[in-house]
Parts: sequence; C-alpha cells; structure tokens
Amino acid sequence: MKVLVIGAAGMVGRMLARHLLDSGKLGDSTVTDLTAFDVVPADLDAGSSAVRLSIREGDIADPATVDQLIGDRPDVIFHLAAVVSGEAEADFDKGYRINLDGTRLLFEAIRAQPDYHPRVVYTSSVAVFGAPFEDPITDTYITAPMTSYGTQKMIGELLLNDYSRRGIFDGIGLRLPTIVVRPGKPNKAASGFFSGIIREPLAGQEAILPVEDNVRHWVASPASALGFLLHAATMDLAPLGARRCLNMPGLSVTVGEMLAALEDVAGPQTTALVRREPDETIRGIVAGWPRDFDPARAMQHGFVADASFHDIIRAHIRDTGARPESG
Ligand SMILES: NC(=O)c1ccc[n+]([C@@H]2O[C@H](COP(=O)([O-])OP(=O)(O)OC[C@H]3O[C@@H](n4cnc5c(N)ncnc54)[C@H](O)[C@@H]3O)[C@@H](O)[C@H]2O)c1
Repeated sequence: MKVLVIGAAGMVGRMLARHLLDSGKLGDSTVTDLTAFDVVPADLDAGSSAVRLSIREGDIADPATVDQLIGDRPDVIFHLAAVVSGEAEADFDKGYRINLDGTRLLFEAIRAQPDYHPRVVYTSSVAVFGAPFEDPITDTYITAPMTSYGTQKMIGELLLNDYSRRGIFDGIGLRLPTIVVRPGKPNKAASGFFSGIIREPLAGQEAILPVEDNVRHWVASPASALGFLLHAATMDLAPLGARRCLNMPGLSVTVGEMLAALEDVAGPQTTALVRREPDETIRGIVAGWPRDFDPARAMQHGFVADASFHDIIRAHIRDTGARPESG
C-alpha cells in the first residue's frame, strides 16, 4: 500500500509518518511506500523500516506540484497541511490560498486521474462551529464558523462530502479537538497556549496564559489524534453515508482544571511558572470556539477519547522525557 502524508513536517503529520515507518502497517495492510510531503522538508528518516520513504518539498497550493504528487496514485492520502488559526486570521490571502485552494487542488488532482478512488483523510477542526453554542454540541449542531480558519475548514468539509458522494474518492473529515500537549516548539495557532501552560512549566520555563482560568476548551492528546487518523484510514466509511465529517471525541476542561491537574502530577513549582498576561485578540478568537461536545456518532463508529487530563500530562512526560523537578 502506498501512503501519502501531506503536511508531514507538522506535529500530527510527523507523528503519523513516524508511526507508519515504525509499524509498516495501516490496519491489516502492509505499507510499502510512504511519501512525506510538506512545504518544508519533514524531519524523518526511514531507519531500519522496510517502508520506502520519499521526502518531498512543495506547495500544496501549486497545481503542478499537486498533480505530480497525485500522479503516484497513493492508496491512502492524509491531508493535514494547513495554515493554523492565528496565522489564517492574520493573513487572509495566505489562509484561503493554502487551506482552501490547496484542498480543492488536491481533490481536483485526484479527480483527474482515471479509475482512481483513494481513501482521503482530511483534518478539519472544531473551529467549524461558532458561538452561540449548543452545550454540549451534538452531531447535528449547525456549523457556523467565526474565524477565517474555521470557514476554510468548513468549505473543505463540504468539498470532501461532495467529492465522496460522487465517488471521486472515499473521504472522511475529522474535526479534531485542540491537540494538547503539543510537543516541540509553540506554533502560531491561537490555541497554542493550551499546550504552552503544560509543556513550558514541565521544561522549567515560564508560560504565558492569555485567557482567564474559567475558559473551557475541548482537547485530545497527540496519541488520541494518531489513533483517530489510523482508524479513519481503515474503517468502513459506507455507514457514514453522505455525512463524512465527524466530531472527534475529547475532554472538556477549563484552564483552571488543566493547571490543577498539572499541579497534581508535577507539583506547585510547575504551575508557579504560568504568568497571566491577558491578550484581547486571543481571548476573542478562543471565545468563538466550542467548549464541550457529545461526540456520539464518532464513538459509535469506533473513535476513542483520552480518559483524563491527568493521563494526558503523564503521557506527555513519558513520551517527551519532560521531567518535573518533583511532584
Ligand atoms: N493541532 C491541533 O490542535 C489541531 C486541531 C484541529 C485541527 N488541526 C488540523 O490538523 C492538521 C495538522 O495539525 P498540526 O498541529 O500538525 O499542524 P502543523 O502546523 O504542525 O502542521 C501543518 C503542516 O502543514 C504544512 N504546510 C503549511 N502550508 C503548506 C503548503 N502550502 N504546502 C504544504 N504544506 C504546508 C506546514 O509546513 C506544517 O508542517 C492541520 O490541518 C490542522 O488545521 C490541528
């Protein structure tokens, strides 16, 4: 099986590519070829993997590049490339070019191939919903984004539904919760502080908290996100019918609850490193995001959430070697 990961240098893409290289499997199928595509080179090596790894650089919004990429006719395509929320809000043209035009070009390149109907896994976001919210948000709640990023993801979802309905490809869209704790460096997502207030203190560094402690958010761990993608790539999509985009399961937690869990797991010296510095722009963006879900449909189709925020912190410490000084 040939697999293409678009956005393979990113947090989720790299984790997914690494997993495919290490396991050599996607469901019951053997992965023979993995193409890791991104606008910057993905930091990956095949190591002892039996999977043939090809690292490619290019712009998803460039038609010739996308045609060439799809010319290899991968069996499974993970489309993760995106400009994230803060950047898409700050740069209108860039957000629409990459998040919307890039997605449409990809779907069109697939359509242009004769007798070719790959599985497409598309990462959408809970930013497709906007206030006022149903509480919790159920599977039938209206999608009414309040950011450019959410709007771009929403249009991508509509395209994915329509191209799937027409049998051009077999697509599924995953509305990911915010992935916490994001390993590595902060990115430009407006939601970045949700990871920063855990990750930085665990590394002995100060973190900025731009919103109040009572802000509630919908989160899932990197390991859960990987599980969602692998399941989406292999599950039977026929039971989803024409509605191909699902609210992924997660945890609904307030910033205060996150910090309390951090203190439980790693001690008060970690939470003491969180500095409150209100930021109106970030507060405004986050206020337009949903807080709680009842993801019944995804769970019914086999997607599984994290058990607790304490577990998410412990997994981050285990996976990254972050060492709280005591606790
Ligand atoms: N991380 C989260 O909390 C979260 C939540 C909801 C949805 N998502 C979605 O999941 C996907 C993966 O998220 P992530 O956290 O790994 O994001 P990320 O920012 O770490 O990775 C995105 C990747 O896309 C690449 N990219 C950007 N422009 C490109 C272009 N023109 N051509 C090719 N590649 C380009 C970037 O270089 C980057 O490596 C994204 O689509 C994101 O919108 C993420």
